Amino acid sequence: MSVVLVGAGPGDPGLITVRGLEAVRSCEVLVYDRLVAQELVDEAPPWALRIGRERLSQEEISELLVRYGQAGLAVVRLKGGDPFVFGRGGEEAIALAEGGVPFEVVPGVSSLSAVPAAAGIPVTHRGVSAQVTVVAGHAPGALDYEQLAAAAGTLVVFMGLGGLDLLVDGLIAAGRDPETPAAVVENGTLPEQRVVTAPLAELAEAAIGLSPPALVVVGDVVAIAEAIHPEVEQVLARA
Ligand SMILES: C[S@@+](CC[C@H](N)C(=O)[O-])C[C@H]1O[C@@H](n2cnc3c(N)ncnc32)[C@H](O)[C@@H]1O
Repeated sequence: MSVVLVGAGPGDPGLITVRGLEAVRSCEVLVYDRLVAQELVDEAPPWALRIGRERLSQEEISELLVRYGQAGLAVVRLKGGDPFVFGRGGEEAIALAEGGVPFEVVPGVSSLSAVPAAAGIPVTHRGVSAQVTVVAGHAPGALDYEQLAAAAGTLVVFMGLGGLDLLVDGLIAAGRDPETPAAVVENGTLPEQRVVTAPLAELAEAAIGLSPPALVVVGDVVAIAEAIHPEVEQVLARA
């Protein structure tokens, strides 16, 4: 396969898949995202060409993948989490298909459920939440708060830290209970992981000082972390 779109997992380098790691270890060109662990970049052969995300626009990356793919090189596009969950993997796959380049997608462990799990939060817990709503929060003014506040179960917000106060205000104004348990998980699955939990109305204040990458979780499942978290900490400590 000429180009492989690989999910690197949510942060901890041990959470890439076996197939994804095999692809990295045998690539000739590695194009990687900012959120990808350096340990995984180091898994590529020493002679492989390494291209980091910072210097290139998304369009330039897609062009690059097509160009190297058309040249028949073994290219790995390594992206944080899963390539198709807020990862722009779809755009890259379309560019490759249009360029006539054979490609494969190796899914990754998305932060969607893995980051809450690392904080002891099961996004679906029997009898508590049978539904998960997932949104991007980088433009909180564009969200449909009536719909979000009315949705049952768990709300997971990607890229929501920067506009967290607007997000919280929007949800409460649209009718979500201000006492709903809520959390922000920073650097989930990594040794420097930090977790803040608070009632929804107090979440933005509680999260002051946290930085991206961070995931926001709103819903009664957050309260379950109290029962699970000590064991989670032990698991992380052994890792
Ligand atoms: C551009 S999205 C990429 C998501 C990725 N494709 C996935 O499946 O997890 C980046 C956002 O994912 C979330 N995220 C990714 N890794 C994270 C981590 N280790 N801890 C907390 N949030 C994370 C944050 O909301 C971050 O702003």
